[in-house]
Amino acid sequence: MPKTAPQKKLPDLPAQVSASEILQAGLDAAGGQVALASSFSVEDVVIIDLVRQIGSDVNIFALDTGRLNEETYETAEAVRARYGVSIDWYFPERDAVEKLEREQGLFSFRESIENRKQCCRIRKVEPLQRALRGLSGWITGMRREQSITRAAIAPLEIDASHGGLVKINPLVNWTRAQVWEYAEQHRIPVNRLHRRGYPSIGCAPCTRAVQNGEDERAGRWWWEEAEHKECGLHR
Ligand code: ADX
Ligand code: SF4
Repeated sequence: MPKTAPQKKLPDLPAQVSASEILQAGLDAAGGQVALASSFSVEDVVIIDLVRQIGSDVNIFALDTGRLNEETYETAEAVRARYGVSIDWYFPERDAVEKLEREQGLFSFRESIENRKQCCRIRKVEPLQRALRGLSGWITGMRREQSITRAAIAPLEIDASHGGLVKINPLVNWTRAQVWEYAEQHRIPVNRLHRRGYPSIGCAPCTRAVQNGEDERAGRWWWEEAEHKECGLHR
C-alpha cells in the first residue's frame, strides 16, 4: 500500500484570536515552507505587511491568468518596491490556453458555468497546483464576510484538495472596515480599482464594480448566481 503523509495537527485557537496569532499558529502547524497566494487585493497586501512584522520566511506567489487588470500589475510592482520582496508569478500551461482560445474563442466563460469553470481551471487551478508543490502550507486573504460560499471557513484548515497542506486564513474574522482601517493606518499599496467600486478583483473580463448595498463579490462573474462564485482555487 502506498504510504500517505501523516495529517498535520491543527491547534485549537481562541475565538478572539488575532490575525498575527493565526499566522504564527499556521506557520508552526505547517512546520515547513509556507507561501502566500496573492492577487494583490487589499486583504493580500495587509497580510504581506503582517508577515513582515512577524519576520517570517514566507514567499509570495501570484497566478497570472493572462486576463488580469493593468491596475493589478501596478499594485504588484508597488508591493515589490515597498517591501523589497520578489514575487513568484505562475502562468497557465501555454498549450491549454492556445487550445482553449483556438477552439472556443476569447470569451467562452460567458457562455455557461461549465465553460467558465474550464477557463478558471486552465488559468488558475492548474497553475495553483504547481505553485503549491513542495509546500507545507499556504496563506490566503479570504474572509468569512465576503460571501455565502465563505461563511464557514476556519482560520486554519487542512487543505484536502491540495494534499493536506495547512491553509492559513489570517483575516477570516475581519470585516471590510477593519481591512481598510489597517490599510490606511499602515499606508499600504492599494489596487486603484478598489476605490472605483471594486471590493473584489479577479480577472478583468469577469469583474465589474458593484453598486451601493450589493454583496462584496457581486461584481465577480456577475452573470452567475452567488452560490457558484468560486473559481476552484478554494474548495
Ligand atoms: S477567487 O478564488 O474568487 O479568485 P478572491 O479573489 O476572493 O478569490 O481571492 C481569495 C484569495 O485567493 C486571495 O486572498 C488570494 O490568497 C487567493 N488568490 C485569488 N486570486 C489569486 C491570484 N491570481 N494569484 C494568487 N492568489 C490568488
Ligand atoms: Fe477565465 Fe474569468 Fe476565470 Fe479569469 S476569472 S480564469 S478569465 S473565467
